[in-house]
Amino acid sequence: MTHHIQSLLLTLFLSLLTSLPTDAREVLNFDRGWLFCLGDTSTMARPDYADTSWQQLNLPHDWAIEGDFSIDNPSGAGGGALPGGIGWYRKHFTVPASLTADDRLFITFDGVYMNSSVYINGHLLGTRPYGYISFQYDLTPYLRRGADNVIAVRVDNSDQPNSRWYSGCGIYRHVWITTTAPLHIANWGVYVMPTTKNGRTWTVPVVVTLANENHGGQHPMIRNTLFDSNGKIVAQVANGSTGQQMTVRNPRLWSPDAPNVYTLLTEIVIAGKTVDAVRTTTAFRTFRFDAKTGFWLNGKNMKLNGVCDHHDLGCLGAALDNDALRRQLVKLKDMGVNAIRCSHNPPAPELLNMADTMGFIVMDEAFDMWRRRKTKNDYARFFEKWHQRDLTDMLLRDRNHPSILIWSIGNEVLEQWSSASADALTLEQANLILNAGHDASALAHGKELSPNALLTIHLADIVRSLDKSRPITAGCNEPSPDNHLFKSGALDIIGFNYHEQYIKDVPKNFPGKPFLMTESVSALQTRGYYRMPSDSDYVAPERWDKTYTNPTMMCSAYDNSHVPWGTTHEGTWDIVKHTPYCAGQFIWTGWDYIGEPTPYGYPARSSYFGIIDLAGFPKDAYYMYQSEWTAKPVLHLFPHWNWLPGQTVDLWCYYNNADEVELFVNGKSLGIRRKADSHQYHVMWRVTFEPGEITVVARQHGKGVRRQTIRTAGPATSIRLTCDYRGEYTTFVNAEVTDKDGTLCPDARNHIFFTADNADIVGVDNGSPFSTERFKASDRLAFFGKCLVVVRVKDKTKPVVVHAQATDLQPASLTIHTK
Ligand code: GAL
Repeated sequence: MTHHIQSLLLTLFLSLLTSLPTDAREVLNFDRGWLFCLGDTSTMARPDYADTSWQQLNLPHDWAIEGDFSIDNPSGAGGGALPGGIGWYRKHFTVPASLTADDRLFITFDGVYMNSSVYINGHLLGTRPYGYISFQYDLTPYLRRGADNVIAVRVDNSDQPNSRWYSGCGIYRHVWITTTAPLHIANWGVYVMPTTKNGRTWTVPVVVTLANENHGGQHPMIRNTLFDSNGKIVAQVANGSTGQQMTVRNPRLWSPDAPNVYTLLTEIVIAGKTVDAVRTTTAFRTFRFDAKTGFWLNGKNMKLNGVCDHHDLGCLGAALDNDALRRQLVKLKDMGVNAIRCSHNPPAPELLNMADTMGFIVMDEAFDMWRRRKTKNDYARFFEKWHQRDLTDMLLRDRNHPSILIWSIGNEVLEQWSSASADALTLEQANLILNAGHDASALAHGKELSPNALLTIHLADIVRSLDKSRPITAGCNEPSPDNHLFKSGALDIIGFNYHEQYIKDVPKNFPGKPFLMTESVSALQTRGYYRMPSDSDYVAPERWDKTYTNPTMMCSAYDNSHVPWGTTHEGTWDIVKHTPYCAGQFIWTGWDYIGEPTPYGYPARSSYFGIIDLAGFPKDAYYMYQSEWTAKPVLHLFPHWNWLPGQTVDLWCYYNNADEVELFVNGKSLGIRRKADSHQYHVMWRVTFEPGEITVVARQHGKGVRRQTIRTAGPATSIRLTCDYRGEYTTFVNAEVTDKDGTLCPDARNHIFFTADNADIVGVDNGSPFSTERFKASDRLAFFGKCLVVVRVKDKTKPVVVHAQATDLQPASLTIHTK
């Protein structure tokens, strides 16, 4: 054993020792000090396997993001063109002497992609195919006291393609060790869901599931205590029953604007001693979906202004980073987003925790496919055997989160139709088939329920057996009421993906049913690239089954480019906004994600759909939503002002809280524009370019309230570093190429080299969907003038300094003081 590992073990032993509970449970993070090897032999599970040469790392970890993009990677461009394969993780640890013979030790994995097999001391604990589900194993029977113990995890992501987007590879979420007394609360064994009849007096029912109940014939008392956010006790109950109830009067309600949460402490008490305790976040809110008036929260009618997002964190890959996740949510919140759809799988628990406390309504989704596959090796292989368990575990894990208001049992599953010839598809087609037309013969006929409808009922029944407090939906791209899923009658909310032209028929086709755009838009935009004339629609590909090429590999960032099954951003919002029975929408997508580079093929390898690019730079549409969804004053003129003399340029402006806007080119007015009515979302001027500056002035009641100026940039001279987001450990720094006056050079592609003091560089990006530069590097080409470096602090007590250099540019440094 190397000295390093010995000291690691000692540290771990000591940390276990000092924090072990004498009675109540202890939950320890188990991310540090793992060993990793990309390779596979059956002996790697053995406790005595010689692992000293393996790579040392901390979880969460994604080995695919460390790889190179290649057309030859079997995930294909749709899966991000990054490697798959089989990898093993091992971790040595010592059982602390203070763990009594009766105590239990559990290991919890929040997510392993995919097909994980977990061993302790050579004993197989289990295999879990689904890469997005959380699971726990009891280590107790196999522990070796006073000796080295080894957890070994085999992760098999070799059968590709198995996803329509980038999944990542490995133990990409957190791992926990839980120690409990023999009699304890079962995993996910507390269920609390406050309800009210009159909006003032609330009932707080708590159901507790105990494990090892009969141990020693003990008769425990169960005590539930509810605390408000100041730690004040607002209710308490204690008795011998596992089903209890408290009453709370006039609590502070939860909403996206005021995410007031409460904490429930559930204790198991034996002879006056707390032997186990679990904390659960809960909140008070009433909501309903109405067939005529849409969505209501706490008695207030509002729209779900939502986005869909996948789980990757750009250049950090799938490896969960709490700071990176929070940064994503902060930017969405700032845009006015109030709802998130975890597409198309259960998210990291941290996302739900943040949604609870930052104020996002969540639609939690179980699957992207049921029995019928969309890609050759996807979860459909495991659905029959595992769906009951996976869906149940998602509900048990997530049902306490006050942020979750909708369950989705699937996205565009092919069971909507009687037959769908998905098996013969290529990966590229799989990402497009979802929107293929299906003829009437594939729909439900007659009164009798089809196997597909029965499957829908079966899945909805699983959900309802575990939580009756939220409605169930599914993202459907077959708008006919004869869609087998709709026909089943099991869905509480009719959820359309796209097909906005059918929204007007919803009341007729689905009388009495609430309605939601479970997915919408699919606009295509490359930050910084503008295709004119801007008032033409560019549809790419022209039809779902046609290929699309364009040598630029880009899509226009005016809101004038989208897929044939989608719309512009303004297009769907206009319908949602003006259709009272539409509860809202989940736009595809909030952030760009790795994989699914529709409409292009390799070297494109990440999406064009995001309102925010992969590096975190907002595209222009961000400000359209901000102007509609927030009360913040918005004035956003675009694009840049570096064109060819005499060139005709379209200037767009998004604004709110003003009656009119006026444009000046080098001091000359180009006229006043006003949005005609509530259906207009931007104004435009068609202008002949002349170098200099353009200014837009917003006026309210005749008085100038805001202005924005854009200048023609001269030659690039400098790098400007700014802190984009400072997290607890991970910080995001933007680098912009500017001229001597600090004006962004909008076409700059300089190669920037980064170094950092007191931090590791953990990723670089520039938001280009077709760059094949590595994400794990310390240099990057600027893309439309910008790139990003991500650093992780070493010593939190000291500041981090980031340096950037490039040939012919003045270098720059930025000091960031830690939080
Ligand atoms: C939808 C699908 C999403 C994504 C999107 C792209 O049909 O649900 O996962 O593929 O299309 O437009």
